[in-house]
Amino acid sequence: MTVSELAKELPDWTREYKPFWSWQPSRSLLSSIRAYQHHDGSKSTLAVIFKKAAVLRHRFWSVITGADIPVNAQIGGGLLLPHPNGVVIHPEAKIGVNCLIFQQVTIGTAGTHNAPMIGDHVDIGAGAKVLGNVHIGHHAKIGANAVVLIDVPPSKTAVGIPAKVV
Ligand SMILES: CC(C)(COP(=O)(O)OP(=O)(O)OC[C@H]1O[C@@H](n2cnc3c(N)ncnc32)[C@H](O)[C@@H]1OP(=O)(O)O)[C@@H](O)C(=O)NCCC(=O)NCCS
Repeated sequence: MTVSELAKELPDWTREYKPFWSWQPSRSLLSSIRAYQHHDGSKSTLAVIFKKAAVLRHRFWSVITGADIPVNAQIGGGLLLPHPNGVVIHPEAKIGVNCLIFQQVTIGTAGTHNAPMIGDHVDIGAGAKVLGNVHIGHHAKIGANAVVLIDVPPSKTAVGIPAKVV
């Protein structure tokens, strides 16, 4: 399932908007990812140049933010990263639209190669880890520092280590 098939609501792109001169590293990082993916697949010379420029921007902003979000990450539109430091997202994880991810969040595998599938409008608290073949339903919330190893139903909150639905 692709991110666009996963998405049930429309992305709010204003959440990623950044005025050109404004210092907002997380939005600059996201912008480099969006630019890379926009030009990916096109064979035109100009697109190849823009893609390479996007990769350079992505490397720069990754260093500045301390986030490890791959340039080919499968992220729906409208992602908010208020404090991007320490955010790690596996390239195979799928993240729906309008999500909110706080600092030090890991979305990755747990031994196997399966990565999480995060629904739309999911808020993930600071320090939380979402690991393995888990599905986080639309509008769910993950508490700060939770370690999520189970599916979380839509609109529910999971907290604790290992996380339980409350
Ligand atoms: C998970 C969260 C969204 C829950 O908020 P909420 O819906 O208002 O829920 P409540 O505060 O009523 O808590 C519900 C229960 O979960 C517990 N709980 C809440 N957050 C928890 C957490 N992160 N870890 C463990 N337990 C938690 C509460 O103690 C409460 O338990 P109780 O019913 O036994 O009293 C919120 O607590 C949270 O962790 N948000 C992340 C915020 C964040 O990361 N901010 C960073 C800013 S820089």
